[in-house]
Amino acid sequence: MLSQKLQAEVAKAAHKHYQLSEGEVEVQPVRDMAHGDFTSNAALKIASKWGVPAKEAAEAIRRELADSRLVRSACARVEVAGPGFINFWLKPATCFKQLAELTKPAPRAILRGRRVLVEFSSPNIAKPMHVGHIRSTIIGAALANMFQALGAPVLRLNHLGDWGTQFGKLIAAYKRWGKREQVRRQPISEMLRLYVKFHEEMKREPELEVEGQQEFLRLEKGNRENRALWNWFKRESVKEFNVFYRRLGVNFTHVLGESFYEPMLKGVVTDLLRQKLAVRNEDGSVVVHLQAEGLPPCLIQKSDGGSLYATRDLAAIRYRVKRFKAQQILYVVGNEQSLHFDQVFAVAKLAGYAGNTILRHVKFGQILGEDKQKLATREGRIIPLGEVLDKARELARKVVQAKNPSLSAKLKDRIAETVGMGAVKYNDLSQNRLTDITFNWEKMLSLDGNSAPYLQYSYVRLKSILRKAGKVSGRAAGSAVLAHANEADLSMLRLLTRYPEQLRRAAEEQGPHLLAAYLYELATQVNSFYHAVPVLKAEPKLRSLRLNLVRVAADVLKEGLGILGIGVVEKM
Ligand code: ARG
Repeated sequence: MLSQKLQAEVAKAAHKHYQLSEGEVEVQPVRDMAHGDFTSNAALKIASKWGVPAKEAAEAIRRELADSRLVRSACARVEVAGPGFINFWLKPATCFKQLAELTKPAPRAILRGRRVLVEFSSPNIAKPMHVGHIRSTIIGAALANMFQALGAPVLRLNHLGDWGTQFGKLIAAYKRWGKREQVRRQPISEMLRLYVKFHEEMKREPELEVEGQQEFLRLEKGNRENRALWNWFKRESVKEFNVFYRRLGVNFTHVLGESFYEPMLKGVVTDLLRQKLAVRNEDGSVVVHLQAEGLPPCLIQKSDGGSLYATRDLAAIRYRVKRFKAQQILYVVGNEQSLHFDQVFAVAKLAGYAGNTILRHVKFGQILGEDKQKLATREGRIIPLGEVLDKARELARKVVQAKNPSLSAKLKDRIAETVGMGAVKYNDLSQNRLTDITFNWEKMLSLDGNSAPYLQYSYVRLKSILRKAGKVSGRAAGSAVLAHANEADLSMLRLLTRYPEQLRRAAEEQGPHLLAAYLYELATQVNSFYHAVPVLKAEPKLRSLRLNLVRVAADVLKEGLGILGIGVVEKM
C-alpha cells in the first residue's frame, strides 16, 4: 500500500538524523485533502522525544526525501505544514495507476498472515436478542470483514451465554409450569416467560432460589434429564438467533458457548491458586486481588464452588490463545462490561495466559430511542430485534414505493429488505462506536442524508450511467488522457485512490465509521461530479476517463458497503 511505502521512506530519511523506533513513523491519509494526500507526524514525534523544533526536523526529513526514488516518482511535491507535518501530494499519474487495483485484494493485503479472532454478538440463550446485542453483531461483523479485506485470516466467534445459575432457574421453572408444546411453538418468548414467572414466584416462595441452584448443580454434574432440557433450550434459542443472523447476513466460523469451557474451569482456579495469584477466602470463595493494577478484586469461584462469568472468560482466553494462535483477539462488547474485561485481561496477563496475543475490548455505547431514552426496554419489556428489523423493512418499502412505484411487488420486497437492513446497519456503523447512538427512523431512511439508502441510491445512479454508456472499449485510455483532465476529474481520482488507505485506517482504529465516512464523501463527490461535468457526452478521451472514474466509484461503493455488511441493489 502506498502509505506503507512512504512510511518506510520517511523512516529511512528520519533515521539519518534522529533515533526513532519502529512504530513511531506513520504516514496516514490527510484528513482535509486541501493539504495533500498523505501526511506524517514523524517530526512532531521527534520533537517531543528529542526536544528539537518540529519544523526543523520536518525540513531535515523533507530534504532527505528529495533523494528518495519512490517519493520522486510518486509525489508531485512534499511540503512542511503547520507545526511540522510533512505532507505529500501525489502525482495524478500515480493515482491513475492505482485505479485498476483499488478493489483488488492482493495489493492491499497488508495483514497477510496476521490472524485475528473477532468475538462478537454473543447473546444469552433462552432470552430474546435485543437491540443491545445488535450493535455487537453489526460492528463485529464489519470489523471482521475489514480485517479480511486487508488480507488477515479472520476467525468469527460467537460466545453464547449458555451457562450459569440462571439455567438452573429456568429448568426449575420448566419442571413446575412448563409445557413442551408451548416451548415448541414460541421457544424464546416462552422460556423468558417461565424465567420471569420464576422470579415473581420467588418473592412469595423464597425457597425457589435454592431449587434453582440445585437444578443448576444437577446440570453441572451431568444429570441426564437436566442436560437434555438445557440442550433443547439451547437448540431452540440458536434456531431463533440464526433467523436474525441470516437476515443480517452474518456468519460465524465458531459458535462456542460459555458452557464449552466448563471442563477447563477447575484447572484455571487451581492454576491461579498454584501461581499464588488467587487466594481462598474464609467462606471458601476464591479471588484474585488486583490492587496493584488499580482494579477491584476479581472473584473466580463462589463459596459454593460455582464458577463465574470471569472464570469462564479466563478459561476461554487460555483455550483460544493456544488453539487459534491469533495475533489479536477483539471482544466486541458494550461499554458497560469495561470493568469485567479490565479485570479479566489483568488476571490473564499476570498468569501468562495471553502469551503474545493482544487482547482488546472493542467497546461501544448504547442505542437510544428518538427521545434519547434507552431503547432496550419498553414498559419493562425488551424490544425484540425482530420487531426493529421488521419496522426498518416496512419503512424502506415505503421509500421504494415512493421512488419507483412501477417495480414489481416482489422486487420491491427484495429491495426493501436490503435497504431496511442496510439502514439499520449504517445508522450504527456511521457513528463513532464509543458514543451512544440514536435511532432516528426518518434520518436512517432518508434518501438525501448520510444514510444507507442514500449510498445505495448513489450506486443505482452510477450503474444506470454505466448502462447507458454501453460497452466502453475494454482498454481504458492510458495516463496520457490526464493532460485533458480538469480539476473535477483530478479530485475524483485523488479521492478514489484513498479507498484502501481509509480501509487501513478504519481497521487500525477499529472504527467502521471511518470507512462509512469515506464512502459518504465518495458518494457525495461522485454525485456532484457527474452533474458538474459531461460524462456520456464528453469528448472521447475524457468520456473514457470519466466513465472509468464512475465505474471505479461504483465498484468501491459496492465493495465498501459490502465490507460494512450492507448490500446494494441494481434498481430502486
Ligand atoms: N453474553 C454476554 C451478554 O449478553 C456477552 C458476552 C461477551 N463476551 C465475553 N467474552 N464475555 O452480556
